[in-house]
Amino acid sequence: MNNDIIYMDNHATTPIAPEVLAAMMPYLTTNFGNASSIHPFGVAAMDAVEKARLQVAELLGCSAEEVIFTSGATESDNLAVRGIAYACREKGNHIITSTAEHHAILDTCHTLATEGFETTYLPVDKYGRVSPDDVEAAITPRTILMSFMYANNEVGTINPIADIAAVAAKHGVPFHSDAVQGIGQLPSEMESLGVDLASLTAHKIYGPKGIGALYIRRDAPRPQSIFHGGGQEDGVRPGTLNVAGIVGLGAACELAKNYMKTGKNCVATLRDALHLKLTARLGDIHLNGHPEQRLPGNLNLCFTGVQSHALLMGLKSVAVSTGSACDSESVKASHVLVAMGIPNELALTAVRFGLGRYNTAEEVEIVADEVIKVVSRLRELSGN
Ligand SMILES: Cc1ncc(COP(=O)(O)O)c(C=O)c1O
Repeated sequence: MNNDIIYMDNHATTPIAPEVLAAMMPYLTTNFGNASSIHPFGVAAMDAVEKARLQVAELLGCSAEEVIFTSGATESDNLAVRGIAYACREKGNHIITSTAEHHAILDTCHTLATEGFETTYLPVDKYGRVSPDDVEAAITPRTILMSFMYANNEVGTINPIADIAAVAAKHGVPFHSDAVQGIGQLPSEMESLGVDLASLTAHKIYGPKGIGALYIRRDAPRPQSIFHGGGQEDGVRPGTLNVAGIVGLGAACELAKNYMKTGKNCVATLRDALHLKLTARLGDIHLNGHPEQRLPGNLNLCFTGVQSHALLMGLKSVAVSTGSACDSESVKASHVLVAMGIPNELALTAVRFGLGRYNTAEEVEIVADEVIKVVSRLRELSGN
């Protein structure tokens, strides 16, 4: 890996914090026991798992019994939506979500349609937010679940989760939130957010990939397991526990809790400095997402006239993301930007800067200079 490249794609994934790696190492080497074994190797592994569960619970302000370990947020989202749909099938078949959700939610709802479940996909406003009034209007006597993300992974917009939770509670509808991008960066206490279930993943908070959790409030309906096997994780998520990963998730949660007290504003300050410099030196920039209600490290910009893929190819020392996906035949605009009403042509110019814990003011200067240089050159070439 080229260490000269400045990493600003922390919504895609984050590097493992050194403290997290150090906590994991014994469980990748000498302490390799299966947490289900009853000999000392197994007991040591299970002790580590339970300590990590407490660390996760402390960040979420919940009790350890309310945390189920999974392989990441895709699995947590699938388990929450499909598991609640199956568990509540007797009561109804209607789910409510939004058009700006992650594909782990959208595609799960799409596939449930083949099994007789119906989903209402609510629109979002121009910032990417769901309206609690729209949520209330969409509820029917057959509604068994609603799922809305805490903060959007592309544009960083924060949903009014507590207000939506109040609507859900008023109508007695279980409320799941894909809270992957918010947990560890925004207030993370489940009780104050008011959600019944929430998905999180370690690799967005400086932990390892392939490990996550699902918070299930004590008095919420229990998702029906979508896997069959041993009885681990209370039977909700059977399978041999990923002890090293779980230890890493626990350590990452503890670090995040401490970091939120001190570091959050630093990231937002760097992000704003980057935005300011780009706006001052380049015209025709459009900020995607809410100007205030957004993740501290998120800066999603459209550079009019410059295709995001061309810009990324031109950036030699910066790692950022486009707001579009390539398939073999075409480049498709992000479904989130389209849902926000951004015209297709403009959406294809979107670039996501995801600043994180380890970025510095010096890096912001270098990134800004390089982006200004490449955008100016591409605009010149295309006559814009
Ligand atoms: C909002 C959101 N949900 C779900 C996921 C999937 O998480 P994981 O990679 O842990 O499966 C991601 C990661 O890209 C995400 O940003």
